[in-house]
Amino acid sequence: MLPLNPALLSGEDYLFARIAAAAAAEQLRCPHRPVLSLGIGDVTRPIAPVASEAMRTAAAELASEGGQRGYGPAAGYPFLQRAIAARYDGLPCPVTPAEITVTPGSKEAIGALFSLWDCQVPVWVCDPAYPAYRAAAEAAGHPVFSLPCREKDGFLPRPEAVTQPGLIVLCTPNNPTGAAMDLPEMTCWVRFAGESGSLLLVDTAYAAFLTGEALPRSIFAVPGADRCAVEIGSFSKSDGFTGVRCGWVVLPEKTGCGAAWRCRLGSHSNGVSYPVQRAAEAALSPTGLRQRQQALAVYRQNAENMLHAFRQMGLTCAARRPGCEAPYLWVRCPDEQGSWYWFHRLLRECGVVCAPGAGFGTMGEHWLRFTAFGDPRTTAEALRRMTRLFPAKA
Ligand code: MLT
Repeated sequence: MLPLNPALLSGEDYLFARIAAAAAAEQLRCPHRPVLSLGIGDVTRPIAPVASEAMRTAAAELASEGGQRGYGPAAGYPFLQRAIAARYDGLPCPVTPAEITVTPGSKEAIGALFSLWDCQVPVWVCDPAYPAYRAAAEAAGHPVFSLPCREKDGFLPRPEAVTQPGLIVLCTPNNPTGAAMDLPEMTCWVRFAGESGSLLLVDTAYAAFLTGEALPRSIFAVPGADRCAVEIGSFSKSDGFTGVRCGWVVLPEKTGCGAAWRCRLGSHSNGVSYPVQRAAEAALSPTGLRQRQQALAVYRQNAENMLHAFRQMGLTCAARRPGCEAPYLWVRCPDEQGSWYWFHRLLRECGVVCAPGAGFGTMGEHWLRFTAFGDPRTTAEALRRMTRLFPAKA
């Protein structure tokens, strides 16, 4: 057999596949008690009616005489590039439609981006962080280093920890901790990247969960970021597109990486399907943005209920900044036992799935992540079951 990519030989499945396997085993062990998931951050509210209608119309258009579109542009249809670019209007770094690439989602975009640079370029990944960053960087052959995000720093990484220039992956608001950067913190990273010759890869998949003006929704809120930052956006969590699949990359020309990116796109991608791009365009219309808020309100209410319930159970939740209503609750394990121990205990004793913090990095040990993307009734039932393990205080 030919040698396989060593980065794929750890023998350990992706975190959420391991969680799903444990949940399925528990369902078999205890068939009469439905396992309830507060684990993977998967959406449960319907997609916006206006997006669904746009998808239907686009599908009908493709089926009409003369409506066949064939291959679409690899970087996305101009109508969606324009709609996405308009979201950045008014920021200090202007974003043009030509700098937008429509992608099938953040995970796919991240994997593609790591192949742009020489594989000797170091990649700095927050710890804890969404596990796909490290996995994709390692699979692309990069040396990967950890950027510790400590509780005492509000779970935010610090530039001092970066000891050699490279690609620095940031996510704000953060998955799994819910920490969100303010403008001075973002500015500090942009200055550091500019001075050290690094490039920031900024994942904003959860930016729709920010409210008010205190916390920036984009790295391009910082002057000069267009020289040293690439941003990754997604419709998954804001618009219920986890299964529809659509996101985008903003790769500013001033980074000097545009030609390599276009070269890669041309040979690796035929873009995202036309009906999905029409749905994404509709999701960004005034009606779509209004309908988005209805779904987000449900998740925000879940998060609030969860925070209240966890506090009553005597559990410690990581503090959040005002203006950040991240859809994840980052909860300290109740004792010195590890996060996988508590994951299995919750699953076995309550039939409730969470995500063990250790799955997001070594610094995530002793923490558990709970998603607020669940259906409200399921979420309430899961919280009720948890009081068996953690009796609510009066
Ligand atoms: C999460 O739950 O953190 C992710 O959204 C799941 C994934 O994309 O793999």
